[in-house]
Amino acid sequence: MLFTPVLGLVLASFTPVVYSQLPLEQAQQTLIGTWSSGSKHVLTGPGFANPANQSFNYPPTTGISYSFTDTFYELSRYRFNSNGSDPTCITGVIGWSHGKYQLNTNGSMTLFPFPDGYQQIQDPCAAVSNFIEDYRITEELYVQWAIFVDPTFGPKLHLNQFDGAPLAPMFQVSSQPNMLPTQPLRNVSDPNADSESNVQRRGLSKSGALSSRRVDNVMTMGVSGLIVAAFASLAL
Ligand SMILES: *[C@@H]1O[C@H](CO)[C@@H](O)[C@H](O)[C@H]1NC(C)=O
Ligand SMILES: *[C@@H]1O[C@H](CO)[C@@H](O)[C@H](O)[C@H]1NC(C)=O
Ligand SMILES: *[C@@H]1O[C@H](CO)[C@@H](O)[C@H](O)[C@H]1NC(C)=O
Ligand SMILES: *[C@@H]1O[C@H](CO)[C@@H](O)[C@H](O)[C@H]1NC(C)=O
Repeated sequence: MLFTPVLGLVLASFTPVVYSQLPLEQAQQTLIGTWSSGSKHVLTGPGFANPANQSFNYPPTTGISYSFTDTFYELSRYRFNSNGSDPTCITGVIGWSHGKYQLNTNGSMTLFPFPDGYQQIQDPCAAVSNFIEDYRITEELYVQWAIFVDPTFGPKLHLNQFDGAPLAPMFQVSSQPNMLPTQPLRNVSDPNADSESNVQRRGLSKSGALSSRRVDNVMTMGVSGLIVAAFASLAL
């Protein structure tokens, strides 16, 4: 409903609309909802992470998903990192975190994760090939965020992480934020303790997720010419 007038405008003019250039409060309204990249198998909310027992339900393909209310966010990520020096050493990372966020006047966004986030790393070439660790980040900066309206697929969220690198674009899968309860969902041991001691080590299952899941190409795909142009014009 929110997007109807804007969509009409875009269909008429084929000009990308950049919501982050709107006044902050208006811009924030456009962010509220659930966003997911690629084949949209990775989604925030129940079904991805079980914080109480620090487990994950592995989606069939990789991707990222973010949800926002006016105050809170939640994110789900599942990706593979390849290793240039050894192509057989592909590391799988699946992670979940939530907390509060703010939009900054310089067009950036800062996330303030609760301490209950966690991630699972599968690295077939490491001494310990599969472990779960707390996500010990207190602040996550995205130097730029922007929403473009794709004439076919609707609103599309672009986030550039702290180093400027773009994340896979995410489509809006719902105008409702799909989230677990917006409060710490598990007790985390003293964050000041040696991080090694807080890492649960698990053995690698040979038939584990790494070997059997396909890598979603969308994660490495560049953004389209239209959007690159829009980013360039944003970069003042
Ligand atoms: C963790 O909890 C979820 C939800 O209660 C359950 O479905 C799942 O089997 C549990 N996983 C493990 C590894 O205990
Ligand atoms: C790549 O693999 C080699 C050994 O196979 C390892 O020493 C190195 O740390 C890996 N690099 C990354 C970025 O994982
Ligand atoms: C933009 O603002 C945020 C929050 O104040 C700050 O952390 C970040 O460094 C700023 N970025 C630039 C490029 O000034
Ligand atoms: C954390 O621990 C406290 C005290 O033991 C307990 O009351 C609370 O329910 C726990 N919170 C969660 C999210 O498990």
